[in-house]
Amino acid sequence: MKNFFITTPIYYINDIPHIGHTCTTVAADVVARFHRAKGENVFFLTGTDEHGQKVAETALKEGLEVKVYCDKISPRFEAAWKNLDISFDFFIRTTDERHKKVVGEILQKIYNNNDVYKAKYEGLYCVGCEKFLTETDLVDNKCPLHPPEKTVFKSEENWFFKLTKYIPEIIKLIENNESNYIFPEGKRSEILTKLKSGVKDVSISRENVEWGISTPWDAKQTVYVWIDALINYFSATQFVDGKKDFWPADLHLLGKEILWFHTVIWQAMLLSAKIELPKKTYTHSFYMIDGQKMSKSLGNVISPQQLIDLFGVEGTKYLIVRSFPSKNDSDVGINRFKEKYNADLANNLGNLVSRVAKLAEGQKTIDEEITFDIEFENLINNLDLDEAFGLIFNKWIDTSNLKLNQTTPWKLEKENPERIAVLDECIKNIRKAAFHLQILCPKVAKKIENCFKNEVKPLNESLFPRIK
Ligand code: MSP
Repeated sequence: MKNFFITTPIYYINDIPHIGHTCTTVAADVVARFHRAKGENVFFLTGTDEHGQKVAETALKEGLEVKVYCDKISPRFEAAWKNLDISFDFFIRTTDERHKKVVGEILQKIYNNNDVYKAKYEGLYCVGCEKFLTETDLVDNKCPLHPPEKTVFKSEENWFFKLTKYIPEIIKLIENNESNYIFPEGKRSEILTKLKSGVKDVSISRENVEWGISTPWDAKQTVYVWIDALINYFSATQFVDGKKDFWPADLHLLGKEILWFHTVIWQAMLLSAKIELPKKTYTHSFYMIDGQKMSKSLGNVISPQQLIDLFGVEGTKYLIVRSFPSKNDSDVGINRFKEKYNADLANNLGNLVSRVAKLAEGQKTIDEEITFDIEFENLINNLDLDEAFGLIFNKWIDTSNLKLNQTTPWKLEKENPERIAVLDECIKNIRKAAFHLQILCPKVAKKIENCFKNEVKPLNESLFPRIK
């Protein structure tokens, strides 16, 4: 059986889960379920990023010891994904001793490879991003992603990693189509331009941040949170039972603001530690809320639970993928979600299924083998999730609604062959749609399958009740 290892970023726990995190997690879930449905052996990893200044400061504000704070917030992420029926196989926490051990081992390898030196770091640091800001990161001398007070000037002695040593090799990998790992294509050129415009070595330890893993060769410094976090993808395969063979990862899914870390720093670290490189990274864009950035201060943050309360678990997942920002930012909002839910799920899909189930009640069905549509498969592999699920509607749902409305089989006698033929065609289409929907809405897909298996049975509930 082929192995398939997929990851999401591990989320910071200074905040509770919102639909930005949900976006990547649901996308990963769909891809994981797709590969399982194809008979592959899947390892789907997600988790929380718990070290660093940002988390320590948040815990302090809450008046809690940092670990106590982490133990309180991390389970909220795990619970959020369970509530959304996300099929992750392991939930990693960077405060897990087993992860910390692997971080120490990898750093030691990098050190032994002579890729580390001590130097003074001076410059701006954004606590929001947990990152050292370079000239190109700054907009009006500020971090464009976080409030100005999050940017602080730092001057300290740190351990540096010889990132520059690996740049020629990384450029070669990206430029060679066989070994290129950056998707979608637009991100590849973005990274190449940045790589060719001059790169500096990166600091990988912190002198004044206690909340972290101590640097193996220098107990006075802690490992920079990003270095610790990236290693989670590898460490999980080393300490979770039976997962060693899953490395290298098949797919790291991430948002656009962390592209550099995942496509340059992570690769360079692995090259230095002589560990195989991940096969693919896919970087998506952002959700915007009614045209604005989602932020606490604007008060426009949407939580996954808010969506579940309105649209149910599978309705929520559908709405998330139908607005998935594959390449460009995608504007979302509760009203838009409501319209989409009612139009696609309550009307087009829900009504079609209940109408056909009622009209064809008792009609025998043939159990034909269904396989994934090749166009659908390509769209899923390219993470064009909105289009992939739009395709199901175009191909099988809208066409069936049209057919029903044009041929009005309800005006014909139950035994009329014409009526039976039209309903048969609709049943086949619905079953194909349900087969493809299993990777997004498994429960609804199952209900549909049961309703049309062997003999059509009436549906005694509304799949997606209309909402106001
Ligand atoms: N802890 C780091 C990641 C370390 S991975 C080794 C981090 N965490 S985060 O909590 O800030 O999560 C960032 C990720 O959440 C993004 O890369 C993206 O996957 C998701 N999103 C956060 N906000 C988002 C939107 N507004 N829209 C879509 N996804 C976004 O960075």
